[in-house]
Amino acid sequence: MTNQLQGARALVTGAASGIGRAIAVAFAREGATVAVHARDERRAAETLGEIAKAGGKAFPAIADIADSGQVKRMCEAAIDRLGGMDIVVNNAGIADFGRVVDMDEAQWDRIMTVNLKAPFLVAKHVLPRMIEQKRGGSIIFVASTNGKTADAEWSAYNSSKHGLLGLSKCLAAEVGREQIRVNAICPGWIETDMAKDCFRTIAEQTGKPFEELYDDGMRTNMMRALIPTEDVANMAVYLASERARFITGQSMNVDAGLCYW
Ligand code: NAI
Repeated sequence: MTNQLQGARALVTGAASGIGRAIAVAFAREGATVAVHARDERRAAETLGEIAKAGGKAFPAIADIADSGQVKRMCEAAIDRLGGMDIVVNNAGIADFGRVVDMDEAQWDRIMTVNLKAPFLVAKHVLPRMIEQKRGGSIIFVASTNGKTADAEWSAYNSSKHGLLGLSKCLAAEVGREQIRVNAICPGWIETDMAKDCFRTIAEQTGKPFEELYDDGMRTNMMRALIPTEDVANMAVYLASERARFITGQSMNVDAGLCYW
């Protein structure tokens, strides 16, 4: 532990796997107590086990993030058990793609509900307590470089992430005076199940070998780098910590130079 988040109370959504798990583990390593959001207890178990093994403090916070009622109850339960809330990471998300003309309404709604509406709801339910505490705080949205780019067949996903960047900037303006900072992280391709699933689908659609597509696609950045989840977690620790005390309304790319704006 290096104690950058000593005593902080944090909620991380989508923390059962990938980027969310890396952030939850890093927060606990830095001394925070972490509410590990997952869809069910079984999915939360691996992250909780990893944190416990490293001597950190965490507990499960269960909800289907696409269900408004469950999101509200999950936030209230997390605040109750943590005794307050200092850091919130909206990370849970889904990826899907397809041409607009082929996309059905349900697919569009599913992406918007999980990637954009749920982060709004989480912010809505945690902010009253964060404001009441008068201790400031940090809210982080895990968006994507897709929130800054135009990509054929990614309309729904990109729109959700463009929207998330809009939400994060407006919210930063709204709660700045309460000393609550709001920022977004824009990862490029990061080595997780989500990235693998995307390239698996592309491989099936194009008939090209998965390994080749994956390695080449993942390295579409200035450094030809394969980026692990820990690098996104490092940025989250920074944004959550006192070291970023005057960083708000920003979007930080973690992408080895995939997107330079
Ligand atoms: P992942 O699939 O490992 O993690 C997503 C998490 O969200 C999973 O644990 C999943 O169970 C959870 N989740 C999704 N829908 C849910 C629901 N209805 N209820 C409860 N939990 C739900 O993928 P990854 O890559 O770690 O994604 C995390 C975030 O990072 C997402 O918002 C994604 O859009 C974003 N991102 C990922 C990139 C990548 O290349 N892996 C690149 C840019 C952004």
